[in-house]
Amino acid sequence: AIDPQFETNREKVGEEKLDELRSSANQTSFGDGVAVWGPVDPPEKQGIHGTHVAVDFDICLADGACLEDCPVDVFTWVDTPGHPESDIKAEPTHEDQCIDCMLCVDVCPVDAIDVDPG
Ligand code: SF4
Ligand code: F3S
Repeated sequence: AIDPQFETNREKVGEEKLDELRSSANQTSFGDGVAVWGPVDPPEKQGIHGTHVAVDFDICLADGACLEDCPVDVFTWVDTPGHPESDIKAEPTHEDQCIDCMLCVDVCPVDAIDVDPG
């Protein structure tokens, strides 16, 4: 399951680093303005994406329940070619829209999502 203490236990990967990763050969995909918490080493290590709504990309296996059930469409698919669990992941692209209903946390079969209300 995702580590709910990720903000303490992981290091946020800065925007400059994201630009580097974007332009590198083994690139990963990032939503605009969504923080990524390392370690990140594509394609195998994709890190945790988002802060208020956080998805551990290394646990997500593209079940899709979060995309289907989120009432305010926080999530969008992004490509993660070559990741051992799945080639697409649920990016919390619109995490600022989250209404803290906790549905996504409940429906994810592998507990890849952490939502921190308040
Ligand atoms: Fe969407 Fe509710 Fe999850 Fe927030 S807690 S991302 S509103 S499903
Ligand atoms: Fe991934 Fe869980 Fe959503 S496996 S696609 S975060 S329901």
